Amino acid sequence: MKRLTIAIDGPAGAGKSTVAKLAAQELKYTYIDTGAMYRAVAWQALQQGKETTAKDIAGLANKLDIKLTYVDGKTRVKVDDQDITEAIRTPEVSRLVAKVAQVPELRQVMLTLQRNMAGQGGVVMDGRDIGTHVLPNADIKIFLTASIKERARRRWQELTDQGHAVDLAELEAEIASRDKADCEREIAPLVAASDAVHLDTTQLSIADTVEKILALAKGKLACV
Ligand code: CDP
Ligand code: CDP
Repeated sequence: MKRLTIAIDGPAGAGKSTVAKLAAQELKYTYIDTGAMYRAVAWQALQQGKETTAKDIAGLANKLDIKLTYVDGKTRVKVDDQDITEAIRTPEVSRLVAKVAQVPELRQVMLTLQRNMAGQGGVVMDGRDIGTHVLPNADIKIFLTASIKERARRRWQELTDQGHAVDLAELEAEIASRDKADCEREIAPLVAASDAVHLDTTQLSIADTVEKILALAKGKLACV
């Protein structure tokens, strides 16, 4: 049976990684979290202990060694063999990552890497430019959105459950600022592909969203 490529894009907190992971599990496909790859580079930049410039990022892009592995259904992220899965989720990384993701040399390296990762099909890949740039010929493209209030609330809930003390208003401002940077950058901005299926998850549960994606996959598989 054909193994599909499924691209899921959208702003922060729309539910991309949650539903992409579940859909991949159901289909027995590989889930690829491209945001984690950009976060890994932002983490590396922070290790330099000085303000990050585009030149620093281009330098890191030239010797990129990111590995995504899968342990108990969860993605683990390694850079130069150091496990940084938890470290890439800190507020410092979240604040820097959209700036890092604007650097053309890095985006070029990521594009090649991510295309290779999806080369055999059987993948659900989520990010910002997957349907538009990385996998323009994906079998299924989803553009996932939700209101900014709901997305901030979800992130707040997630961080609070993990024991972090976070301010909801600050989180909303950080997400809005990252969305703006992602939407306005010159290369591969966050935009829906013209052939993407739009799903607003503000009032849609995780299970219902996954069901819609699986129904699309079933439809595609029925006609190949
Ligand atoms: O999980 P969350 O929505 O907070 O973000 P993420 O998917 O981990 O992505 C972090 C950042 O990486 C985004 O805000 C973008 O700046 C960048 N990114 C990108 O530019 N292109 C992608 N394909 C994926 C992420
Ligand atoms: O990957 P992205 O930034 O788009 O979002 P996520 O990390 O998958 O989801 C952010 C949070 O929202 C997670 O804690 C999800 O469990 C939650 N969520 C939700 O409550 N309802 C949805 N329909 C989708 C996600």
